Amino acid sequence: MTELADKSATAIIPSPRRHVQAMKEYHPPLGNRDVLRLDFNENTVACSPKVREVLGRISAGSLTRYPERAPVEAIVAAHLSLAPEQVALTNGVDEAIHVLFETFLEEGDELLLPVPTYTMYEVYASATDARVVTVLAGDDLRFPFKRLLAAISPRTKIIAIANPNSPSGSAATRSQLLEIAVRAPHAVLLVDEAYFHFHGETVIDQVGVIPNLIVARTFSKAYGLAGLRLGLLAGPVELMRWIRRVLSPYSVNSLALACLPPALEDTAYLDWYVGEVLEARAEFEAALDEVCVRRWPSRANFVLVEIGAQHKEFTRLMSGAGVLVRDRSTDPGCHGRVRITIGTREQMRQAVAALNETLSVLKMQAHQHAP
Ligand SMILES: Cc1ncc(COP(=O)(O)O)c(C=O)c1O
Repeated sequence: MTELADKSATAIIPSPRRHVQAMKEYHPPLGNRDVLRLDFNENTVACSPKVREVLGRISAGSLTRYPERAPVEAIVAAHLSLAPEQVALTNGVDEAIHVLFETFLEEGDELLLPVPTYTMYEVYASATDARVVTVLAGDDLRFPFKRLLAAISPRTKIIAIANPNSPSGSAATRSQLLEIAVRAPHAVLLVDEAYFHFHGETVIDQVGVIPNLIVARTFSKAYGLAGLRLGLLAGPVELMRWIRRVLSPYSVNSLALACLPPALEDTAYLDWYVGEVLEARAEFEAALDEVCVRRWPSRANFVLVEIGAQHKEFTRLMSGAGVLVRDRSTDPGCHGRVRITIGTREQMRQAVAALNETLSVLKMQAHQHAP
């Protein structure tokens, strides 16, 4: 060993912040997904052909420039009937959550979360100095409204509610959300409407009316642009100005910015995709009922189902049959439960065939193993 290598082997290396050291690693299973992807609640077909056209016309020269976000923010704001200063585009809702938490959470603060819910709230909160306070839903996985209200404290700084929620698919009502905002005026109420298009209900019209309400939207789900990383926060100017200080001016790249206007314009494509998913969801739910698999009512493009003790084997067998699904057993209150994204009717017929086959193999195995 050279003297230099010897020294570096024994050197003290810089350590990250205490909270970062305590963070759990999060590795979503993103490899080998060239089959039917019913695991990440993505669009299972494609984005609008109008977006493809624009992508194809992007010149090499235009890529030499830093992306300019403001003009596209103005287009999105107009689409949502908001002022441009009320809207910030982000690198997916994940960046929106990260930036929001960095902007508002400090030592002594609490992030209030109904659980189970979207994993990244807890991941990003755990990197801050704030404490995470969770309110566990009951067995019906409905929004735990009353208990959430009771958990609001003077220290509550952000309340994050995915509406509809993942992995349950349940939704809070508009009046529940508005009451929470009123009952916690000292906290930011983040309503994450990632699955808005499948639900059809929103509180985005209350942005700027309710002083502590911030709404998030993504282009990863119904719009089919998960790979471009595009999301937004909409909130009152008084809150958005702080968020903009933390947000990178360049985090939304120029390809994503170019694709956003045609994605918004092509309402026919969006309506087709959402309509297809809603019909497929109804058919899929009926198929689950037929084979007596317990399911939770869903307002989104996925359904949570009860598989029980064989959840790992179920997920593995489904994957072997070319259908990826997501085991949510490690989510609070979700042991033995698996989330299945809804695609088109044709895709879901393939999923039902794989499901029936998998269930019969599991039943056979259970009989073989029975004493
Ligand atoms: C509730 C919720 N919010 C946000 C996201 C992530 O959105 P994005 O792809 O825009 O980061 C997801 C993705 O699964 C989600 O379920």
